[in-house]
Amino acid sequence: MGELSICDALERVRLWFGEFSSRNIELGAAEARERIRLREAMEARGEPQPPLAGVWESEEALRRNLELKCEHTLRVVRNARAIAESVAADERFFRGADGGHEIAVAQIVAYLHDAGRFGQLRRNGTFSDLAGENHAALSAQAIRDEGLDEWFSEEDASAIATAVAQHNAYRVDAPAGSRAMMHAKIIRDADKLDIFGIMTDTGAARKYTLYNNESGGAFSDSLVAAVIGHANLRYEDIKTLEDWALFNVSLIYDINYPKSFEEIKRNGYVEKIVAPHLGRHPLLPEVIRSANEYIDGKLAGSHLPANNI
Ligand SMILES: [Fe+2]
Repeated sequence: MGELSICDALERVRLWFGEFSSRNIELGAAEARERIRLREAMEARGEPQPPLAGVWESEEALRRNLELKCEHTLRVVRNARAIAESVAADERFFRGADGGHEIAVAQIVAYLHDAGRFGQLRRNGTFSDLAGENHAALSAQAIRDEGLDEWFSEEDASAIATAVAQHNAYRVDAPAGSRAMMHAKIIRDADKLDIFGIMTDTGAARKYTLYNNESGGAFSDSLVAAVIGHANLRYEDIKTLEDWALFNVSLIYDINYPKSFEEIKRNGYVEKIVAPHLGRHPLLPEVIRSANEYIDGKLAGSHLPANNI
């Protein structure tokens, strides 16, 4: 098809995403039906089978989890646009670049960042990357498999591929000051803002069912101390369900842009994440205080490097 204008490319990606999501949801639903049919056939032959678990329990469970990922992506697109607009308007971050172009690229990255989630769930039955497949690498692969990079200039294709592939890395591996680095930072912020929203949503509607840590029942002291010290935790650090709250707070220590800190503060995410657990560890009020101090420091600009895209 050849390279498109950035406006046309964004519109094509938007349409592609709707079609790709529906295609994968239908494929997943057909696979779920097939598993249920096979299990019933074996039972009918007198071969007792263990119950189907997790997303394979029912066609509905599989559909719902894929639909949640689709909805997540649409919210991340909105977040990415808002962050990119704020970055484009802030001369500390954005010198000599074409703001409108980058705002469109940020949205393209957001539409594509979790494309690999669909295949991941269908193959592994979980959204956990610890099951063996890195969903960001799968998303970058999906861009190639679907031939989408033909729609972008070579330079945009490269920035988009890097930002997508790096969106879940512990540390971004891209040249400092590059467009790829900027777009990686935007998508990482946009993604985290939605994670905060999901984790603090008291309604059940947006919750995924697939986080597996069931053990423990207590906060890990070492992780409480690490988060008070502004550490960004790793998935592998999480031992208990309670630790998830610490992990989610620690995401703020990997946030990049003032707009994202503003949203975190405006929504009271830190308090909302920790509040249900207060009283269960003596240092949780300190976790909140330390996080708020960090956010206020970032908003006051005291730690912002000048011209750091
Ligand atoms: Fe992701």
